[in-house]
Amino acid sequence: MPRHARLAAVGSLVLLAASTASAQALAPIRLPAARTEGGKPLMQALKLRATARAFAPDALPAQTLADLLWAAWGVNRPGTGLRTAPSAHNWQEIDVYVVLPAGAYRYDASANVLEPVAAGDLRALAGQQEFVKDAPATLVFVAATGRMKGAPPEERQAYAWADAAFISQNVYLFCASEGLATGVRAYVDKPALGKALKLAPDQIIAFAQSVGYPKK
Ligand SMILES: Cc1cc2nc3c(=O)[nH]c(=O)nc-3n(C[C@H](O)[C@H](O)[C@H](O)COP(=O)(O)O)c2cc1C
Repeated sequence: MPRHARLAAVGSLVLLAASTASAQALAPIRLPAARTEGGKPLMQALKLRATARAFAPDALPAQTLADLLWAAWGVNRPGTGLRTAPSAHNWQEIDVYVVLPAGAYRYDASANVLEPVAAGDLRALAGQQEFVKDAPATLVFVAATGRMKGAPPEERQAYAWADAAFISQNVYLFCASEGLATGVRAYVDKPALGKALKLAPDQIIAFAQSVGYPKK
């Protein structure tokens, strides 16, 4: 089957399809083009930036997810492949995995597609605090250390954590601008989540960050 035929039409139904999808293969999700205009002025977003630990169950619309991912780690200078966050040596070693009720995906920024990783609701594995399973989306920042050419092995993790932290702050500011709730965390059972996300031996999880609507 040609690849374009496998791309799922994006809609909140796709993002909402929780347990029903667990036994089925996931299709790639072509995201809508991100809206790269508007939002709150930076100083207002900085005033509002905060960590949330409670989320309403409502799903994120596909457009919001697309905007969020672009803000996090999208390509902001087309033709160069350069991104909304810096990375040491431009290694671009961080992949953003997106854990949704229907399954887990990897964000392909240049194609603007979510590539399937694992079917089923893995959200409870994305952290060890009670609220984690309630957030409609959790981003997991995964470093592919094999891309960090020339980095001394003992420095790889520090670079990867720093690069993931820039992405995390983009997420915080986007959420502050959009009235969304978010919180980054290191408190994750990384071996269990890494296994569920089918990570390769050179991939390491830096942080997870949940995104959703504030709990009323
Ligand atoms: C690297 C890092 C790891 C964190 N890990 C967790 C975590 O596992 N669980 C959690 O609830 N908050 C976590 N946080 C959020 C901090 O607790 C939070 O940023 C801090 O309390 C200040 O609150 P604020 O972000 O609202 O200003 C983490 C923050 C950072 C930067």
